[in-house]
Parts: sequence; structure tokens; C-alpha cells
Amino acid sequence: MRAKKILLGITGSIAAYKAAILVRLFVKQGAEVKVLMTPSAKDFITPLTLATLSKNQVYSDVSSEEGWNNHVDLGLWADAMIVAPATANTLAKMANGLCDNIVLAAYLSAKCPVFVAPAMDLDMWIHPATQKNIETLISYGNHLVPVEHGELASGLVGKGRMAEPENILSFVNNHFSKSQELAGKRVLVTSGPTHEAIDPVRFIGNRSSGKMGTAIVEELYHRGAEVVLVSGPARYLPDSDVAEIIKVTSAGEMFDACVDQFPTVDVAIMAAAVADYTPSKVSPIKVKKTEKTLTLELTNTKDIAKELGRLKKENQVMIGFALETNNEMSNAQKKLVKKNLDFIVLNSLQDKGAGFQHDTNKITIVDKHNNINEYELKTKQQVAKDIVDYLVKMQTTVQ
Ligand code: CTP
Repeated sequence: MRAKKILLGITGSIAAYKAAILVRLFVKQGAEVKVLMTPSAKDFITPLTLATLSKNQVYSDVSSEEGWNNHVDLGLWADAMIVAPATANTLAKMANGLCDNIVLAAYLSAKCPVFVAPAMDLDMWIHPATQKNIETLISYGNHLVPVEHGELASGLVGKGRMAEPENILSFVNNHFSKSQELAGKRVLVTSGPTHEAIDPVRFIGNRSSGKMGTAIVEELYHRGAEVVLVSGPARYLPDSDVAEIIKVTSAGEMFDACVDQFPTVDVAIMAAAVADYTPSKVSPIKVKKTEKTLTLELTNTKDIAKELGRLKKENQVMIGFALETNNEMSNAQKKLVKKNLDFIVLNSLQDKGAGFQHDTNKITIVDKHNNINEYELKTKQQVAKDIVDYLVKMQTTVQ
């Protein structure tokens, strides 16, 4: 926790008194802690206690006598945000993007991992609405610190107690040590579509948005990797502090950038939807409309993954994608071999919610030992985690 910046959001639950212990534990481990409170949290614990323990100003309003408290800055400042205790009300608001207090405003602006430690009565905890909100929050990439079983404020005994501060601390600690799994590794990721020029105003492209590639880059970054992203003209790109970004337009430019970067990386993940054909000639001036039909001659682009697969050294790992509409498994297996990949991520357009533009994806990972792993339909963030987990597993087991 040394030098880690922790943003602690406290909401109105009796368990709020334990937040003081949590602040103390984080500070003791060398973290810098800033505390945010909802108005009702102040009924359970005073800002003065928390300011004294954290040695920092406590924020409980978006604006105060001193002026406007910049929740965006707070959200960007933190290495981790922890909402503890998180009431059923706050979980519902977080799951739905509501923003009527400073904890929620900072949550919506946070770029760091967010942990929620719920606290409520057992019936509130098991209510389907609460469970659905928890599911939603997890699907957004937030981390749930499991509730504990025990005596509750109502006098009932069951699940719903906020995790003990020591357990919250070790949960967050575990996350950070896990996040170092790829420290020292440099990873090349390709993402987005390519645009093949026909003339100065027209091109041949595809529907790739860059969402999957961006999610992979962010996940790699959170695991400690140094990432270089070669992206075509994608709608989605990660922040520039998360990866070195090389923007290209055509398949040819992407090929050159990747061949240039490949000797510097340990891993290459080919998530781009690269055009297979490009116009044989690019008109230097706008092609004019005539009464006749127009025939465009296309030539093959170079296969980037295949070339990197050929150049691959023994200590390098390569991961490819296969987006298929039919004969999915056999096509993916052929590509795995042809491109000398370590594993291939297959997604089928036959699966609802998979492929371009969606926020979700459904994948099957096939590796070079012919192990086949099928996954459920998940958000692209969760899919990125599964892919990176597979990579980490592959690196830690003898090949
Ligand atoms: N790929 C690449 N360079 C190309 C074409 C594809 O690097 N010129 C990569 C993709 O990023 C992906 C994998 O190769 O990781 C498979 O891409 P895909 O388009 O599914 O396969 P192709 O080999 O192009 O075959 P086809 O389009 O006929 O299915």
C-alpha cells in the first residue's frame, strides 16, 4: 500500500464507525487516504474523526464554503476507490448512474479500480433488486468485497455485515499484488478497423469499434504490463497514460508499425479487424460519378499476425482472434496453426451479443495444445479479464 492513493467513500450505515479503523489501517500501511462522505454517513461518524485519522480534508458536499469540490480530480487522483460501507441505497444509485452526492460523483469519474463493501440487513441483502444491482456493478468491472455472516444491527443473524476492515484491506492488497502479475512485460495490442483508401474521400472499412481492444489494453495496464497499442481509426481508444498509442489508418501502416514493435515485446495480442483486401490503385483525385458501373480491383493485404507468427521467438507469446460466421471451431483451429499463435479467441456472429459494436462478447479460447475453453456471454471488460487470465496462466505453467 506504500504511496498508494486511496479514496474512501463512506455511506450512511451503522458500519460507518468501522471506516475509522479502515482509514487507520490504510494509513499505517503507507497509503494516502482521502475520505468522502454522503450526508447521511455524518449521522454515524464525524468528519473530524476521519480528517484526523486520514490527515486530509474530508469532503461531504460537491460544494462547500471554500468553493466547489472537484470530484473529477478526486476520481482521477485515486489508485483505488473503496465504498465502505456501501448501503443498499448507494449500490442501487451506483448501478444506475445516479449522482446526487459527492461519493457517487467521484465514483462516476473514477478511472481506478473500485471496490464496494456492502453493509445491510440480511433480507435487504438477498432481495433480488440488491442482487441485480450487485451483478450490474460487477459487470461494470467493480470489485465486490464479500459481505460477512454474523449479528446484524437489527439483531438478526445472517449475511449482510460489512467485511471487517482487516479483510477489506487484505482484499485490496490482494488485488494490487495480482495487478503486478504482468509487471516487466511489454505487450503489443492491435485494435480497431483499418481503412483502405479508394480516393482522397472514400475508403473500404469495417464495423470494428475498438471496444474489445481497448478493454484488453486497460486490463493489461491494471495487471502491471507496459502496453503499446497499434490502433486503426477506432471509435474507442484507451487514455494515453494507459498505453503508448500508435495510430494508423490502413492495413499496410498497421503491418509496418507492428513489425517495427514486435522485437520489443513479450506478448502480441491481435485484436484488430484488419482488411484482407485493399484497392490496387488509389486515385489521387476524387473518383467522379458516371453512368457506367464501377469495378474496383482489390489486392491482398499482408497478414500481420502471420508475419509476426513467422518472426516469433521462443520466449514470445502471440494471441489472435477469429470472428467467424460458420465452421467456427475448424476455422479458428486453422488460423491458430497458420499464424503460429499460442491461443486464439474465437467469437461467432451466430452468438447473440457477440462481435462488433456490442458491449458484450461470447468467446471460446482454443490453445496450441488444443485445450478448448468456452465462456459465457460477458461484458467486454470481463472478457478482457478472461483473456489476460489465460495469458497469465499460460506464462506461469510450463509450456
Ligand atoms: N489478422 C492480421 N492481419 C490481417 C488479417 C488478420 O493480423 N491482414 C489477424 C487478426 O487481427 C486476427 C487474426 O489475424 O487476430 C484472424 O483474423 P481474421 O480476419 O478472423 O482471419 P483472416 O486470416 O483474415 O481470415 P478470414 O478473413 O478469411 O476469416
